[in-house]
Amino acid sequence: MNEIDIQEALSDLSLGGLLFFPQTTSTNDIAIEWALKGAPEFSLVYAEEQTRGKGRRSRSWVTNPGTGLAFSVNLHPTVGEEKHLQRFTALGALAVSEAVEALGLLPKIKWPNDILLNGRKFCGILAESGWQDDHALYVVLGIGVNVSPGSVPVDEALNYPATCLEAEIHTSCSRLSLLHEILKYLIKWRPLISEDVFLGAWEKRLAFLGEKVSLRGGTEGETIGWVQGLDPDGSLRLSSLDGKLFSVQAGEIELHQHI
Ligand code: BTN
Repeated sequence: MNEIDIQEALSDLSLGGLLFFPQTTSTNDIAIEWALKGAPEFSLVYAEEQTRGKGRRSRSWVTNPGTGLAFSVNLHPTVGEEKHLQRFTALGALAVSEAVEALGLLPKIKWPNDILLNGRKFCGILAESGWQDDHALYVVLGIGVNVSPGSVPVDEALNYPATCLEAEIHTSCSRLSLLHEILKYLIKWRPLISEDVFLGAWEKRLAFLGEKVSLRGGTEGETIGWVQGLDPDGSLRLSSLDGKLFSVQAGEIELHQHI
């Protein structure tokens, strides 16, 4: 994919601008620099290859050329949306999920930021925000999608089993049209981010609903619970063995029996 292909393919979408890189460090880092210089809403940073792609919790994210999608979108939360920043990560997850559902697949959102197909991760999302006093100046929404087998890291580099879209649909997948569809759904859901319908669409696709999971990296050490759903602020609602409901704002979950 080159800059002209991308410009043409995305010309019907209301984007705020495009920065294309055959290779860069991290599209999130470039988008943050751009945000600090006033990048408009829905400006897009796209790279064919990242040399220092970032994941959550200081992990790295590998983007090999021509095998996946790696891009970041600049967004500007309104004052009312600042209390819902978790929902920006979900905005990315929902857009990718809908784009992939149109290919006949059944993606599940592993709270808070991974998307799974048949229990394996094919997409990761990293939302980074910048603040001045208590006002969020920007959210950079970074999305990485494994499309062809060359995008899937080798086992030792993984913290979760991984897959790619083509392995799940058993045919080739156009990265260009996938990018278009994800952005189309981002634009569709963006104005609805604070609405109940948004939370409902996210919750409907939540991985492990009703199942027993183990949560690590939260404030409480390791926690076990049964996934019940989402709170309006995007926290994960769980129930304990004695049926008590509790919510967690941070951490990573896994199915308990996989441990
Ligand atoms: C994760 O799974 O931990 C999140 C991975 C996010 C990767 C994407 S690729 C595009 C954007 N640029 C980055 O450096 N990271 C995100």
